[in-house]
Amino acid sequence: MRDSRETLTTNAFVTGYPIKHSRSPVIHGYWLKTMGIAGSYRAHAVEPENFAEFMRLLRNGESGYIGGNVTIPHKESAYRFSDCKTEIAEELGAANTLWLEDGKIHATNTDGEGFLANLDDQAAGWDNTARAGKAAVVLGAGGAARAVIQALRNRGFSEIRVVNRTLVRAEEMRHRFGERVTAHPMEALQEVMRDAGLFVNTTSLGMDGEPAPAIDFGRLVHGAVVTDIVYVPLITPILAQAQTQGRRVVDGLGMLLHQAVPGFEKWFGKRPVVDATLRKLVIDDMETHG
Ligand code: ATR
Repeated sequence: MRDSRETLTTNAFVTGYPIKHSRSPVIHGYWLKTMGIAGSYRAHAVEPENFAEFMRLLRNGESGYIGGNVTIPHKESAYRFSDCKTEIAEELGAANTLWLEDGKIHATNTDGEGFLANLDDQAAGWDNTARAGKAAVVLGAGGAARAVIQALRNRGFSEIRVVNRTLVRAEEMRHRFGERVTAHPMEALQEVMRDAGLFVNTTSLGMDGEPAPAIDFGRLVHGAVVTDIVYVPLITPILAQAQTQGRRVVDGLGMLLHQAVPGFEKWFGKRPVVDATLRKLVIDDMETHG
């Protein structure tokens, strides 16, 4: 018989559908190797109709996993089917990190933490504008924008101006995250830039065959940072515009790398570090495998 205790303490997954484009196995594989940990982390495709069963096997220990990451389209289901949720996940209604503890599935969401850690790492002092009472602008109001809006509110921005093509989705963000969030239509984009200290793109604008809207980043305050959570390509059309206008920009790859840290620490017991070698490894992987 297999020693189930051993397998339970060392194997983790990333699940989604499809999952083969996930970079997470490269990230965790690098940490396992460089930190000398005898564990595994692998991509495990689960079709939506089989996700409940996947969670059942995880809970009762039959899957052989100690936990793992969850991505599209399972983040909401992972939240729903888990037994204990962090406050962060509770407010988002979505989970990206699961772990087994005392026979229960625990769930959290590390996207917001990854978003903040990337900016802390790449643009130290970026949040001084929050302390100075400036607003942040978030373009987009989809699933990915939620964690960003929550994180910015928690970091102390007094106002988070959410601009979205479908206004009602921006308004939903206000209902979910409170009065510091304001909702604006696309036509208001230039106006909301005024005196803001941070600009975040969470949409695919400029990458879907349509040109990116012209944005006047000159309206932002001195020292403002422009970032994107999309990381393919690394310099998105919106970041390219901001760069041309002399703004400090941060690409979104670091968010992917940093959101992986808390999960790894939970499953394998040691906190990994995001370094330049890892970043290069993931960039090379994207160039090789698309
Ligand atoms: P994700 O989970 O990756 O955020 P999503 O929930 O589909 O994906 O959200 C995509 C976001 O990009 C939305 O804010 C979407 O605007 P709508 O809510 O109006 O759909 C935005 N988006 C995508 N393509 C866009 C386009 N061509 N013009 C403007 N906004 C766009």
